[in-house]
Amino acid sequence: MCGIVGFTGSMDAKDLLLNGLFKLEYRGYDSAGIALITTEQDVPHIDVVCRVGKVVELARAVKEAGITGTCGIGHTRWATHGAPSERNAHPHLSCDGRLAVVHNGIIENYAHLRTLLKGKGHTFVSETDTEVVAHLIEELYNGGIFEGHSCRSGDMFCALRTATKLLQGAYSLAIVHADYPCDIFVTRRDSPIVVGSSVRGAFVASDTPAIIDHTRDVVYLDDNNIAVLHANGSIEFYDGAGEKIAPEPTHIEWDAQTAERSGFPDFMLKEIYEQPRVVRDTLVGRMVDGCLYFREFTDDGELFQHLERICIIGCGTSYHAGLIGKNFIEEWTRIPVEVEVASEFRYRNPIITKNTLVIAISQSGETADTLAAIRLARSQGAKVYAITNVVGSRITRESDSVLYIKAKLEVSVAATKSFLAQITLLALIALYIGQERHFLSRDEVADYYAEMERLPGQIEEILSDLSGIKRAARACSQAHSVMFIGRGMGATACAEGALKLKEISYLHAEAYPAGELKHGPIALLDEHVPVVAIATESATKGKIISNVEECAARGARVIIVATKGDNAMGKYSDYVIYIPWVKDCFMPITASVPLQLFAREIALLRGCDVDQPRNLAKSVTVE
Ligand code: M6R
Repeated sequence: MCGIVGFTGSMDAKDLLLNGLFKLEYRGYDSAGIALITTEQDVPHIDVVCRVGKVVELARAVKEAGITGTCGIGHTRWATHGAPSERNAHPHLSCDGRLAVVHNGIIENYAHLRTLLKGKGHTFVSETDTEVVAHLIEELYNGGIFEGHSCRSGDMFCALRTATKLLQGAYSLAIVHADYPCDIFVTRRDSPIVVGSSVRGAFVASDTPAIIDHTRDVVYLDDNNIAVLHANGSIEFYDGAGEKIAPEPTHIEWDAQTAERSGFPDFMLKEIYEQPRVVRDTLVGRMVDGCLYFREFTDDGELFQHLERICIIGCGTSYHAGLIGKNFIEEWTRIPVEVEVASEFRYRNPIITKNTLVIAISQSGETADTLAAIRLARSQGAKVYAITNVVGSRITRESDSVLYIKAKLEVSVAATKSFLAQITLLALIALYIGQERHFLSRDEVADYYAEMERLPGQIEEILSDLSGIKRAARACSQAHSVMFIGRGMGATACAEGALKLKEISYLHAEAYPAGELKHGPIALLDEHVPVVAIATESATKGKIISNVEECAARGARVIIVATKGDNAMGKYSDYVIYIPWVKDCFMPITASVPLQLFAREIALLRGCDVDQPRNLAKSVTVE
């Protein structure tokens, strides 16, 4: 959830670290800091600068401090232990100030280690769990015996390896030591970290955007492995047993421009506008000779024939994609589907048989709850398919099969294009299973696919005129709360619309199946609680209109998302947002777009930072 960046090489590391941190700011942004090894004096030492707030504050402070160095590490923090403050910001130092560490994740046994280390005379200055890592490695590096473990004094590799045996929890770590002024030590467990090199030196980051300007061939470190980065660009890799290894690098397909705003005022808008391309890319190559084709399922013919149940797991937006996927799968295969938030699934005793397929959805591929749910499902014998956006992410290594969405890097914390890619892919998977089980005829599959091919153009049409969305947003920006209602596919699209609004505008929002309103939530409605209703062409449109009238009768202003040409909608509502006609089953793919834009407009009107909403982080790698 925090961001790590590090560089050792032939140039000043300061700007490189700061640029990397700017690119990682979406991962966490309550404070930031860097540590540079300065070799100007006889004895190299570490300079640290930290600031509360965004990276721009840190950049200012670093400039004022005038520090330089060719080896360093940096961090953006999303607070878990201890409030955002300079004291709690990373990097954290050992007592002698010769070792600095940046950390993502949570050290679960930090309190115990802290007590033991204090007993050995270590002084702590922060409230973080991370600081124990600095002191623990220092203790071992100095030849101390800790819980029966020890190292030769001055052996940094041993000190780090031994420390990892004592640490419990999830972590990725980048560490510098003034005695090794040109090296960075890196390790991880259950938290992502990636390394790479160029002619300028070697790089480490918690996520590729921080280093994509410098190298596109990277190695995602495996759990318990250690990488030692040298200034000449070479990197040594060791496995958990301390044996040298030579992992294969992964080539990053997307380029540095993907990580830029490209003229858009924010990443969210850029990513919303990328959606026609994303849907198009998701469809490409899936229809071969009139049949849907998934190379990823080549060996699963037998499984699909005998499938009895499907469980879909995910969190947040990915969970909402799962709800929409359920509709697709049940409609086109008649296989029962359960959708559950991963944080609940992992602590239940879910019913899993050998004929249960689990589909885990995660944009980042690093969400701790989803990973834990995957482990549980696999331990009970289920086959797990992962749907993710990030090549090399944790979920890809822990699942039986991986399906990549084609969203490319998503920077804005609010998921938009990844959501559309997830639901488009789920629709294709559902059609494929229907085809393989002969529940759908070849012609039916081809007809649905042909409808899907029209979706990118229809999304472009929505994006070509935002005036209706802006008018509706202006009317709602000062509301007390916003109620989203829909039926069937509309209800699930509403759940995502409400989440988008909450997370970026801090305006309370709720989503309800429209028929449920009168069972309680209608009590909330008055002139301060507008209602957004999805009332596109569908079998239940008439029912939704009745629900809308019930809302208007309670004084609520009504915004209807309606099918273009349905001019009667004006008489039931204060504002109408028209979208092109699509088959009802595909409506969430188009209707979600104006809801994303509606949320963004309101957030901007309320003065919020749409890309980096408060308290949130892009990938939630802690429980
Ligand atoms: O990376 P994941 O898809 O696993 O992330 C799950 C949620 O944390 C994520 O969808 C979150 O809800 C987004 N901020 C929503 O916009």
